[in-house]
Amino acid sequence: MSSISNVSENTPHLLILGMGGTIAGLAPNPEENPLQYQAGQVGVDALVAHVQSVVPEGVKLVSRQVANINSRNLTDAHLTSLGLAVKDALLDAAVQGIVITHGTDTMEETGLFLQATCGKLAHTQSKRVILTGAMLPSNAPGADGPSNLLDALRWASTSIDNCPGGIYAVMDGRGCMAIDLAKRHATALNAPLQNAPSSSVGLINPSWLSGVKAVQAAWNEDLPIPQEGEWPWVEILTSHTGARPETITQWLSSSVQGFVIAGTGHGGFHDDWLKPLDQAMAQGIALVRTTRTGAGATLPNIPEIDHFGCRPSGSLTAPRARIGLQLALNAAKQGNKAGKPLTWQDFFARMADLPEIR
Ligand code: SIN
Repeated sequence: MSSISNVSENTPHLLILGMGGTIAGLAPNPEENPLQYQAGQVGVDALVAHVQSVVPEGVKLVSRQVANINSRNLTDAHLTSLGLAVKDALLDAAVQGIVITHGTDTMEETGLFLQATCGKLAHTQSKRVILTGAMLPSNAPGADGPSNLLDALRWASTSIDNCPGGIYAVMDGRGCMAIDLAKRHATALNAPLQNAPSSSVGLINPSWLSGVKAVQAAWNEDLPIPQEGEWPWVEILTSHTGARPETITQWLSSSVQGFVIAGTGHGGFHDDWLKPLDQAMAQGIALVRTTRTGAGATLPNIPEIDHFGCRPSGSLTAPRARIGLQLALNAAKQGNKAGKPLTWQDFFARMADLPEIR
């Protein structure tokens, strides 16, 4: 990880971690076609330098490149590096807050990952960790990256009374808890927050804030960050018209450890999958079902009784449930080694059953 700074790292500062994305993207012909571009081209130091002159007076900035990629290519190893960097920064007395520039395509997964592994620490350290990104590349006319980055820096540096330490996201003038992010529009400037309960970053809404506090009160213990190579293999399978048993049976000779079913409606799956999924669970493959509808919770025994061992995802979407299941399987394995036997379902329930902000 390279690092740039206009201050010594012992001076109180905000840390900006660069992951890449459209916020760091470049279009060859930005005037003619701003949506044809490469993500992850500009270094985080240049993104920070661009807004440096307008950050609030007295706020010092240090930036560090963790990765510079299109977030569709994010790997387990990238998440490990980011999680460890965030954890270190939360424990560093000189770091007042953390902003992460990230691609919007998979911010949803990173949001859940950071909440589950660093959410308690951010709260107890009274520091905000803020994900931000952009929908237009950095050289497009009207690029949204600089204003999103500036909003994130301002929010990370404002008094903690305004909003407690925790894991958040900022886009298009609004902030939400990072666990509520979900990109549900291909191009809109507010795409990742469009369906998220959120608040203006300028004026925090009291009812949103009380929801944040309820979530934070319920999140008692961070889960371990899997080391590179420790991440369990979990796949998302979508149920659909004409689903075939082979979609499940082809996995049964692999070392896959979990399936997240993106099911229809309440999170149901095709009857042709019933037998092979029972066989998968009998082989020890973990099963979570969620809904492919894009909104609403998936609840136990709705609409039918769940097969033994299958866990509905609560409010977690399929991408979040996949990360959640990886973390839960890893936490159960680590707990077993340490003589604290809890099941993956116990750990998964902590994430799936968090109160929802309405
Ligand atoms: C990416 O996710 O890296 C590309 C798309 C974006 O940032 O909006």
